[in-house]
Amino acid sequence: MKIVQKKTLEDTNCQVLVYGIYNVKENETPPLPAWVKKDDPSLKDFFGNLGQMVVFSDVQIGKKKFLKAALVGLGKKEKLNALNFCVAYAAAFLGFKSKFYSSIAFVYDRQEFTKVFCSHLIMADYEFLDYKEKKEPPPKIEEINLIVQGSSDLTNDIKLGIIYGQATNYCRSLQNQPANVATTTFMAKQAEKLAQEKGFEIIVFSEEELKKHNMNSLLAVGSGSAHPPYLVILLYRGNRKQKEFDLAIVGKGIVFDSGGLSLKPSEYMENMKFDKSGACVVLGVFEGLAQLKPNKNIVGVLALAENMPSSSAYRPGDIIVAYNKKTIEVLNTDAEGRVALADAISYCIEKYKPKYLIDLATLTGACVVALGDLAAGLMTADEELKNKLLDCSLKTNDRLWPLPTWDEYDEKVKSQVADVKNVGERGMAGAIAGYSFLKVFVDQNTSKWAHLDIAGTAWTEKPKFSLAPGGTGFGVRLILEFLNSI
Ligand code: BES
Ligand code: ZN
Ligand code: ZN
Repeated sequence: MKIVQKKTLEDTNCQVLVYGIYNVKENETPPLPAWVKKDDPSLKDFFGNLGQMVVFSDVQIGKKKFLKAALVGLGKKEKLNALNFCVAYAAAFLGFKSKFYSSIAFVYDRQEFTKVFCSHLIMADYEFLDYKEKKEPPPKIEEINLIVQGSSDLTNDIKLGIIYGQATNYCRSLQNQPANVATTTFMAKQAEKLAQEKGFEIIVFSEEELKKHNMNSLLAVGSGSAHPPYLVILLYRGNRKQKEFDLAIVGKGIVFDSGGLSLKPSEYMENMKFDKSGACVVLGVFEGLAQLKPNKNIVGVLALAENMPSSSAYRPGDIIVAYNKKTIEVLNTDAEGRVALADAISYCIEKYKPKYLIDLATLTGACVVALGDLAAGLMTADEELKNKLLDCSLKTNDRLWPLPTWDEYDEKVKSQVADVKNVGERGMAGAIAGYSFLKVFVDQNTSKWAHLDIAGTAWTEKPKFSLAPGGTGFGVRLILEFLNSI
């Protein structure tokens, strides 16, 4: 799918035109472009409300003829944000795509949304069909034209938006793989394939190497599965003059979370192939780095394991000595993500000393209760990092919302018998308890750290924001954007 800017409607050869209309007054027909026949009956209830759409056939505009021309409601101008904007236009995109049109021109006046809009269109174009019978020929949009009133040259925004969208779709294509395909070994191989194709350095710690390095917490989580755990480290060096790493991203990669011996009820297990989403985001970001080539040094870490019950599985009550020598009392084997991340994070900071470290994890059901599927939990004690991430979150539609990180919460994860326990107090601030636990494994004197709980945003059962169900790729655009701010 090509996306190109055109100066005027005269310059486009698209079959379809999509034109955004703001609502001016409640239940009143808003001002419409000259080519609209004002007495057309389909305009009767069209007020430019967000989500409304009317479609006309065979519309002549100057010398151009469009097979279809749609007016898309954008709601009140002052209320329109990047997300509503993308969702409204992407709904039209999908409608016309499904009817086998192959080229669409979008007209709008918000040039600042161009980058996120292009990423959204690329994401709207993605569907997970690996295991479905193929439709012949499948619908396909070949060309998108953007006609942006009052705009300058948008080439760079378009280019970046496409890269963000493609990196996100790559992440989604991995998230969507079921656990019988996307085993820990599959994920490690995917990382190797990416590294080889794009020229990243890669280090893969097998189970034996994890043992040699005393990474007992990651080993413990994986010990019940027939598929071994791995720690995968990807290195991108865009600034060879500098030794230091600017950023580390660490992803929870539980390829399936059955809960382990603290087994989940079956209805809670259905989607637990998505528990590798954090690791998929890391791979998505690296896919994006290969195109963006920022002049930064970045390390990506995947903590891969499968959480299964078996006679070799770790148990409630077990006490584990983690890589950084802190002891963990496991009280619930279903709180495995934090246990797997403990070694990944402490090793990453010790070895690479990144300036910033961001972990992404589908960590807690409690975060889903708190924020639903509309924002990921952002936990960081660093104000500057918090503000940077919030700013990027608004620009990329990967929405974050901050949760408190006061030291007083740390009491909740104190153990009687070890340095820390892997659960907090029942029914209390479960998402923050995850943060308090991870804090024990973060050297905050070395790295500025933020924890993103993406449990509610990484996956969607129903179409969401005009995008297909399944993995959402949440976090890829956010992190790629964040790179520009450090
Ligand atoms: N992967 C889950 C988190 C999760 C649960 C995501 C539901 C999305 C929906 C995680 O490993 C988990 O099971 N967490 C437990 C922690 C609890 C035992 C302290 C949870 O949230 O219930
Ligand atoms: Zn779990
Ligand atoms: Zn989990």
